[in-house]
Amino acid sequence: MEHERTDGHGDNDDSSTSVLTDGAAVNLPPALAAGRLLIVGGGYCGSRLARRVRAGGGQVRVTRRQPDGADDLVLDDATGVRPDPDRLADTTHLLVTAAPAADGLDPALRLLAGELAGWPLRWVGVLSSTGVYGDSGGAWVDEETPLPAASGRSASRIRCEETWRSLDLPLQILRLPGIYGPGRNPLAGLRRGEARLLHKPGQVFSRVHVDDIIGAILHCLALPADQRPTLLNVADQRPAPSSEVLGFAAHLLGVPLPPFRWYAEAEATMGPMARSFWQDNRRVSSRRLTDGLGYGLQHPTYREGLRSCLREEGLPAPAQAAPRPADH
Ligand SMILES: NC(=O)c1ccc[n+]([C@@H]2O[C@H](COP(=O)([O-])OP(=O)(O)OC[C@H]3O[C@@H](n4cnc5c(N)ncnc54)[C@H](OP(=O)(O)O)[C@@H]3O)[C@@H](O)[C@H]2O)c1
Repeated sequence: MEHERTDGHGDNDDSSTSVLTDGAAVNLPPALAAGRLLIVGGGYCGSRLARRVRAGGGQVRVTRRQPDGADDLVLDDATGVRPDPDRLADTTHLLVTAAPAADGLDPALRLLAGELAGWPLRWVGVLSSTGVYGDSGGAWVDEETPLPAASGRSASRIRCEETWRSLDLPLQILRLPGIYGPGRNPLAGLRRGEARLLHKPGQVFSRVHVDDIIGAILHCLALPADQRPTLLNVADQRPAPSSEVLGFAAHLLGVPLPPFRWYAEAEATMGPMARSFWQDNRRVSSRRLTDGLGYGLQHPTYREGLRSCLREEGLPAPAQAAPRPADH
């Protein structure tokens, strides 16, 4: 089977290539391969990036609130516990994946900002959210779209982005829509019979596969520093209703869809978090990344993305699956 590249950068990169167990080639930009990456927050994106960079021969340190392995550093803004400054002072690349707290500061800003100027930093990446664009009524938004006056979590994001931008750092803020990938997608819920088929007319969601976040980061790091935009949306090219995505996931698995419900009927039974998820309707453009910077999305739509999740989660891809009774 031909495997996809995960990095998206050019053929002229002379760094060495290694292969992960999922078959993805990892080709690190030379400066990253020779540097030291600190990832604040070894969650879904952070731990997958760490694995990729290590597979490519790079040096990575990861912080968590509770150490998960011998190499983890503890950093937790709730307790103020943080790594010894001497252990971080040679950091060349910093990726912040921890979300901001309600006061608009993320844990890295609160606990590390004072010492960043003394580090030999060549790149600082901050994972932010396309929630900062608010509700566009389904219209496309890009990095030039003015941000609305925000409240709640979006206001924290905006404050956090502004604070990062006020520091004199080689900064890139990556604005992300719903993140999915292996272990975080509708397939598992459908298999367990726990998925909900909700539909709100006109409502779409943008999304991005975790490997395109990693691919976009590696692509940017392979560019000259002055060509890396400070603000960058990373989203796939097909915003779609969640009902459409669930329908495709059910098709891939060959399982029936759960009963249909209108969102308006289900809303009263939903918690505030789930309701806020459905509040905004927007289409996120990543043309700055694709057309402007030349990044080729590995998963341009949820279709390629879900197929690849299915492969990585170890179940047969549809073409190899046993025929269902209905197919006879
Ligand atoms: N999930 C989405 O669909 C989505 C969409 C748009 C944007 N985002 C944002 O993108 C970023 C990365 O997402 P993700 O899904 O990779 O997040 P994740 O899996 O929740 O990982 C976040 C990491 O940050 C650490 N962290 C959280 N709060 C912290 C605190 N107070 N002090 C220290 N560390 C803390 C967590 O530590 P532990 O390992 O100890 O838990 C975890 O390792 C987040 O900012 C997220 O809000 C997510």
